[in-house]
Amino acid sequence: MPSDSKAIPARIVPPPVQPPLLRYLRTVVRNPLEVWPEAIYRDGIYVERFLGREAVFVMDPDLIHRMLVEEPEKYLKSEMMQRLLAPALGAGMVTSDGAQWRRQRRILAPLFRPAEVARYVPQMLAAADREAARLAAMPDGAPISLSFEMMQTTFDIVAETFLAGGDAFDVPALAEAIDVYLSSTGWVVALAQLRLPQNFPRPGRKRFLEARDYLRRVTGDLVAARRRGASRPDLIQAFIDARDEETGEAMNDVEIVDNLLTFIAAGHETTALALSWSFYLLSLDPAVEQRVVAEAEAAGAPDRLTPEGVAGLGYTRQVVSEALRLYPAAPALLRQPIEPVELGGVKVRAGTQIFIPIYAVHRHRALWENPDAFDPERFAPEAGRMRHRYQYIPFGGGPRICIGMGFALTEAAAILAKLLPRFRFEVTAEPVPVAQITLRPRNGLPAILRHREVAASAKAA
Ligand code: HEM
Repeated sequence: MPSDSKAIPARIVPPPVQPPLLRYLRTVVRNPLEVWPEAIYRDGIYVERFLGREAVFVMDPDLIHRMLVEEPEKYLKSEMMQRLLAPALGAGMVTSDGAQWRRQRRILAPLFRPAEVARYVPQMLAAADREAARLAAMPDGAPISLSFEMMQTTFDIVAETFLAGGDAFDVPALAEAIDVYLSSTGWVVALAQLRLPQNFPRPGRKRFLEARDYLRRVTGDLVAARRRGASRPDLIQAFIDARDEETGEAMNDVEIVDNLLTFIAAGHETTALALSWSFYLLSLDPAVEQRVVAEAEAAGAPDRLTPEGVAGLGYTRQVVSEALRLYPAAPALLRQPIEPVELGGVKVRAGTQIFIPIYAVHRHRALWENPDAFDPERFAPEAGRMRHRYQYIPFGGGPRICIGMGFALTEAAAILAKLLPRFRFEVTAEPVPVAQITLRPRNGLPAILRHREVAASAKAA
């Protein structure tokens, strides 16, 4: 090295500075829950300003009651929700408003009354048995993804109840398309916040469009085939045969496709998540888990559990209710007022995005004692009197309350009671909830499968 050369100081490359906006958007794409302000866990109403726009978060149960029950006609399902879901679900029951929604709700509500739901319990129990057989074929200690297993089970129930067996239907491909579609919704939210059009280039857009097209095509084919072929005792037939009790009208094929996709999407993923989070919480609390097992066994589970037995699983339902409090499968409701409204002293302009952040309401510091703790006793029969009806809203409320609530709670209780006496799931890492329309565990809740018989004989030895 020549002696006169000067030492060149090492160039220190500073870490790239991400503009706050970019950081914010990255987080929205990854997990909107992480950008929710801390105040929504403490306050009754909170106004956030972002890029010159206002978003209002409503947590006060009285205000929630006003919005959902007293004055629902003042609000529309939000533009954001439309952007997220309408490309796949068209103008089905979740995505429509006004007269169009009312008509569909009138036509379909009778199909989800308790007596109708009870007819599907044997299919739910049979699907749980098939899941038990799949798990039994795996060795004790096998690594599994709890959410994958539960998605399989609830999808099996969709295939049985909607499609009487699911033939001519590629169940894994459909499940995959729904997954691709939902996974890209973070981008839809980010683009909407930047006021960019939905066709703006973004990662994964091609896969998103393919998934949407696939979903619409296979469902359309299914309805067309059923119109040509024989009737079968399933929900797709019930959708075709259903009539408006006021006008005698049926739904047309587009409405049927929209609603089939709506019910498949709204029904299977949410219930699978409710189950996954329930198993996770149970794995942390052996005493509660033991009580659920005892209740299931007393009702004849796993082999002699009947639909009547499922109806009597009160404590198991308490556990599901508490899991839906801590991890509400639908983490937020979105609305936009069609006229200026005043909520808790805040003047809200027409068209403002309003969030009812169910996840935060359910963990609100002023509403719940020890809000982050898992305690199914909160849902003991007499305990409900102690709280405001609208501080617990996993299924929403008012005229747009989840039409599948009874179906979902029955299904969840049946599956828990069938599986828990035979298997334990040891969750291996603390899950991170990610809000992408639904509240999914990042990485799918990895767990170790334990066969209870094996555990018992190991103890004896
Ligand atoms: C644990 C499982 C479930 C949860 C947590 C859940 C949650 C919800 C929530 C919060 C809403 C209200 C949305 C709003 O007001 O903006 C809703 C609506 C809806 N749910 Fe569910 N749901 C579940 C299961 C199901 C099932 C099993 C089905 C179908 C069989 C279903 C079908 C629907 C439909 C069609 C709507 C729209 C109702 C309307 O707007 O009139 N859901 N659900």
